Amino acid sequence: MQTQANKLQELVKDGTQSTKKNKQTKYIAITSGKGGVGKSTLSANLANVLSTNGYKVGLFDADIGLANLDVILNVRIEKNILHVLKGEAKLEDIVVSVKKNLFLIPGESGDEILKYNDQFLYERFFEETKVLDDLDFMIIDTGAGIGGHTQLFLEAADEVIVVTVPDPAAITDAYATIKITSKVKPVIHLVLNMTKSSKEAELIYDKISKVAMANIKNLSLNLLGRLPEDKLIAKSIKQRTLFTDDAPNSLASQDIKRIVNNLVYRLEHKVLNNNESRGFGNFIKSLIEKF
Ligand SMILES: Nc1ncnc2c1ncn2[C@@H]1O[C@H](COP(=O)(O)OP(=O)(O)OP(=O)(O)O)[C@@H](O)[C@H]1O
Ligand SMILES: [Mg+2]
Repeated sequence: MQTQANKLQELVKDGTQSTKKNKQTKYIAITSGKGGVGKSTLSANLANVLSTNGYKVGLFDADIGLANLDVILNVRIEKNILHVLKGEAKLEDIVVSVKKNLFLIPGESGDEILKYNDQFLYERFFEETKVLDDLDFMIIDTGAGIGGHTQLFLEAADEVIVVTVPDPAAITDAYATIKITSKVKPVIHLVLNMTKSSKEAELIYDKISKVAMANIKNLSLNLLGRLPEDKLIAKSIKQRTLFTDDAPNSLASQDIKRIVNNLVYRLEHKVLNNNESRGFGNFIKSLIEKF
């Protein structure tokens, strides 16, 4: 009989005979200044489109908000990464295989995870999490705001996406996030959610960009894309489905696909500048050590 661990390994493993070296998982952190602007909606649908395109994708819920990813994806979770770190659960007990190529890794508030700076725990954790090394992408849904631990996730990620909506308070908070994050990331991506048109998105981007250019040194702010305010998106969230599944040809889904294409294009043209292993165990270890 197959064990749980084997099953997870089978699911995550690359279809190709992978005797070749480990893949480099790309870590994409999604954040915002203000809460409730669509981080989780974007995270889940971005991950969904990537997985539909054949990539192996992990969705790491590092946020404890109102609409958690388990709710959005309509799956049940009991334990999370903290239990694995503490040795109270096995990784394969907490990872949820949502659908082909898409895996949810339930998180905890960063504060809790970051307390566990213990060599002994790490070693076991590395072994456990090796099964995730075949993932192409890890999408991290972080909490809102510029709290200490969210910043660590942003620093550790390869790419950071800041989400905002057009309301001025949200834009001010997004700018504050961009400013702080620019200390550790020379390139920051922006997604403008709930915009009426791409024209509106561009105008908002121009505004933020101007202020950023005047006040922040050496930052490249990239408009990754926008999403319309759409009843369909709200409806899908309510019925716990993904709008990219419900209406794959809708304008909103096309916008998400554009965001995915921009992101993949950028990553294909970027040589990741670290040679060390980008396994999930190492990712979490680097976070905890910086704490
Ligand atoms: N483009 C959109 N059109 C319509 N409704 C949207 C859109 N984006 C998000 N929403 C709605 O806004 C609400 C908040 O979205 P979401 O939970 O993704 O935000 P969040 O930034 O993750 O929030 P939190 O900070 O609480 O984690 C949801 O109820 C969702 O239905
Ligand atoms: Mg959220």
